[in-house]
Amino acid sequence: MERQDRLVSPEPAKDDIVLTRMRPETLDEFIGQPLVTRKLSIAIESARIRNEHLDHVILAGPPGLGKTTLAYIIANELNTKLHITSGPVIEKQGDLAAILTSLEEGDVLFIDEIHRLNKTIEEVLYTAMEDFAVDIMIGKGPSARSIRIDLSPFTLVGATTRMGLLSSPLRNRFGISLELDFYSEEDLKKIVLRSASILNIALDEKAALEIARRSRGTPRVANRLLKRIRDFATVERKNVVDLEIAKKALEILEIDEYGLDPLDRKILKVLIENYNGGPAGIKSIAASVGIEHDSISEVYEPYLLRAGFIVRTPRGRMATEKAYSLFGLKIKGIQGGLWKNDD
Ligand SMILES: Nc1ncnc2c1ncn2[C@@H]1O[C@H](COP(=O)(O)OP(=O)(O)O)[C@@H](O)[C@H]1O
Ligand SMILES: [Mg+2]
Repeated sequence: MERQDRLVSPEPAKDDIVLTRMRPETLDEFIGQPLVTRKLSIAIESARIRNEHLDHVILAGPPGLGKTTLAYIIANELNTKLHITSGPVIEKQGDLAAILTSLEEGDVLFIDEIHRLNKTIEEVLYTAMEDFAVDIMIGKGPSARSIRIDLSPFTLVGATTRMGLLSSPLRNRFGISLELDFYSEEDLKKIVLRSASILNIALDEKAALEIARRSRGTPRVANRLLKRIRDFATVERKNVVDLEIAKKALEILEIDEYGLDPLDRKILKVLIENYNGGPAGIKSIAASVGIEHDSISEVYEPYLLRAGFIVRTPRGRMATEKAYSLFGLKIKGIQGGLWKNDD
């Protein structure tokens, strides 16, 4: 299964374009993450008062928690233009230089997946962020020389799935560092109710809470579940999405009461059955399940850890009692010790 095709994948899917309608446009509309929004609103307000460009901002957190949304909000609140690109699409130093020289004063440049920038390209960013300049090589061989081009002061907003993936020279050049965490059920419920009203879906409170509970702390998942449940309600000729309809739909969609889908359960099952509960390294688990280890560590693992189905030990991941009980099993005897951590 392609990971983007999973219903509970926190990553964007092809039919998610509609979801952008549900994107909050101002900090006030942004639900949850109180620490992040507070830090940001102070920084934005003070930049506005001093009439200066905003310091560079780095946003870190698992997919689907609102990083791109915040980049839009920042530009919107500053009343400036947003330019969007991403780490993997910038192939040459010249590509980045072209983007940088096109920026106007105060513009916001959003680089998604900034940790995936090639190292030599990343170096162009250092001077750009620090001195608002790029050094370009002219000519080849012995006559080559470098000229410096000044840039308009701009704000770089970078997004990454984990702060630790950034090199420290890059991380140190961001004045504002924000880490997004999974959302509480209460906040997700508010998000789902807000989305339902934008999409004209009659959603009752209990159904909203049920969707929130099964959304793995992730707004993107919550919005997607809402849409699928709405489809189900339409087919069932129901005008209101209530708890009964929501539960029926979720059962058909194979999303359990913790928000786990068949692939999550497979990961846990492999850990319990093939590795005796662990400890097992991510790479071994990924190989047994048949998916890339990057997607386990960036997408599945953060939620499984957060929800208490696995724990991290120096020797690898271990299944918890909660994971065992999912399959009606109990932890037997002393676990593990056989498996080497391979990551
Ligand atoms: N705090 C929030 N309040 C309301 N909706 C949100 C919030 N955060 C994210 N969303 C919704 O979740 C979806 C995914 O957010 P996005 O910014 O694309 O996540 P990321 O860039 O971190 O992967 C968006 O469509 C947006 O509508
Ligand atoms: Mg994004």
